[in-house]
Amino acid sequence: MDKISVIQGLIDAKKARVYLEIGVASGDCFLKITAANKIAVDPEFTIPFRRKVKRHMKRLRSVFNAKSRMNEYYYRMRSDNFFAGQNLPLLKEGLDVVFVDGLHTHEQSLSDVKNSLTRLSPGGVIVVHDCNPTTSAAAFPAASYEEARESKPEGWRGEWSGNVWKTIPYLRSTRRDLDIFVLDCDCGLGIITKRENAPALNCKAEAIKLMGYKELENEREYLLNLKPENFFHKFLGELKKRSSGEKAK
Ligand SMILES: C[S@@+](CC[C@H](N)C(=O)[O-])C[C@H]1O[C@@H](n2cnc3c(N)ncnc32)[C@H](O)[C@@H]1O
Repeated sequence: MDKISVIQGLIDAKKARVYLEIGVASGDCFLKITAANKIAVDPEFTIPFRRKVKRHMKRLRSVFNAKSRMNEYYYRMRSDNFFAGQNLPLLKEGLDVVFVDGLHTHEQSLSDVKNSLTRLSPGGVIVVHDCNPTTSAAAFPAASYEEARESKPEGWRGEWSGNVWKTIPYLRSTRRDLDIFVLDCDCGLGIITKRENAPALNCKAEAIKLMGYKELENEREYLLNLKPENFFHKFLGELKKRSSGEKAK
């Protein structure tokens, strides 16, 4: 199971109308996702020309087919600026599914999740990439990919998740209104939904700041609420029930 099947599974289960991806790069994920409205935010898109042509063809075809009609919006900017400045009517409508995959630092991923929460539709879902790095090199706490690469941490293989993982124990310890778990696939997919009195963790913010890869390695399941891949099907089943309940109200 990978990020694309998880995100598309959520969109289909919820019949989601609005999808936001923070950190799009060459569009490996964004361009494969199908949703009525897709918003892409990245200060440095690297979508290759041939993919842009393919995308335009797909959109042109969709004009003649109401069922598959898809609107795409591209914002070349940092996520903080996007949330600070956009009056896009779709944001007022609410974000149904958000994929957080921008700058891989704890601080930025936390800011991206918090901003997304303010715009989330009732029953909306946030997916956070890179929540379960499995080597200390991938979890190297740098300010950017370039800094991590230039630091050449032992075991470096070019994959960088940074310390995004800390966002999970932090939110689990500070927000009882959020239900949070991490799927053990594709570098760890954090799944966040709103739910009153969700099971909590009791880690102090200061303690989380001081944690390093060793602490994650020792208490991975506990800190992340790590779930096996097949847990996702159970979660989707519950989500479908909740979504149809909300629509019936
Ligand atoms: C790992 S890549 C995204 C991959 C993409 N989601 C996919 O699955 O194919 C991270 C991207 O985040 C972008 N990025 C870095 N800082 C950002 C920020 N503050 N806001 C939004 N995007 C950012 C980078 O330019 C880069 O393209």
